[in-house]
Amino acid sequence: MYHVALIGYGYWGVNLLRNLNSNIKVSKITVCDINDEMLLVAKKNHPNIQTTKSLDEIWTDLSIDIVVIATPTSTHYSLAKQALASHKHTLVEKPLCTDSLQATELFDLAKKNNKILFCDLTFLYNGAVEYIHNYISNCHIGNIKYIDSTRVNLGIYHADTNVIWDLATHDISIIQKIIQTGPIQVRAISNQSSNKNIDLVYIFLYYPNDMLVQINCSWASPTKIRQMIIGGESKMIIYDDVEPTQKIKIYNYIKSDNDRNSTLTDYRLGDILVPKFSTEEPLKKMFEDFFQCIEQKQYIHVFPNDIIEIIRILEKAEESLNKNGELIDL
Ligand SMILES: NC(=O)c1ccc[n+]([C@@H]2O[C@H](COP(=O)([O-])OP(=O)(O)OC[C@H]3O[C@@H](n4cnc5c(N)ncnc54)[C@H](O)[C@@H]3O)[C@@H](O)[C@H]2O)c1
Repeated sequence: MYHVALIGYGYWGVNLLRNLNSNIKVSKITVCDINDEMLLVAKKNHPNIQTTKSLDEIWTDLSIDIVVIATPTSTHYSLAKQALASHKHTLVEKPLCTDSLQATELFDLAKKNNKILFCDLTFLYNGAVEYIHNYISNCHIGNIKYIDSTRVNLGIYHADTNVIWDLATHDISIIQKIIQTGPIQVRAISNQSSNKNIDLVYIFLYYPNDMLVQINCSWASPTKIRQMIIGGESKMIIYDDVEPTQKIKIYNYIKSDNDRNSTLTDYRLGDILVPKFSTEEPLKKMFEDFFQCIEQKQYIHVFPNDIIEIIRILEKAEESLNKNGELIDL
């Protein structure tokens, strides 16, 4: 049974606390936030928890086994470092931090102190993503030729970060799970001059064998779109996370150039499969994985190198953006 401290009870902290408070492995929860109002809301929604404004109380309370960090991105590195230095297992919201060297330093510190450092890459526990991963791993769509991902909505604007770190983290983590090979080059462009609050970005990732990935992320879209198209040699998948009941559609596709020429004006080239998959809440599964890692004293599904690699790709995307879309080697 764990005593968990949640630092940051904002937009996402609400979901984390709801999950923690219904998890049978969690016996006690302390919520820490610098905002009194949020502490009152937390206590009202969950009268059984304790609240505090003091981070020092978290670091020095020996009964706290786990620290969960859901504060703004720019605070992640220093808070995670303090949590690990205080000998707490530490779960940090995505992105773990915005510097791959700092990420490596945090994993080294966790290893030195025999603690698990985890990052909530929520989509890795999404039933649709798991289904697509398994479907592709079983070679059902042939070699992947391209992935086209759109993740746009109106806000939430975060003053301390940009859309690359806030939204593209999700796309990169999903794509990394699906194709299990890394890009060799990256280019990122925006219509804005470089600054921290870039709210629109197009990222292009170039892979071996001419595979191309395009990611469009925006906080400036009047409508919410969460769509990923995965083009394989024999099938194409459309994953629409906003669609309530038919999130995945798998389209049979033509195989030869002859077929391609004779069916150019046809919008349907074969059958469409709309599969059923687990709809269990991803955050519940994420906590189960984290707790298992702590109990088994090892990483099970997501490894430190996976997390560091995501940060490295995003770092290089930001570098390209700052250099007016220059192609950057990875
Ligand atoms: N996994 C996901 O799908 C997902 C979704 C949304 C947000 N997030 C992540 O969650 C994190 C928080 O995002 P949010 O949208 O909830 O932000 P938010 O601004 O709504 O909430 C952050 C909270 O942290 C508190 N806080 C700030 N600094 C603090 C400090 N030093 N000590 C204690 N409390 C502090 C603030 O008062 C606020 O209540 C971000 O890293 C974001 O990327 C993840």
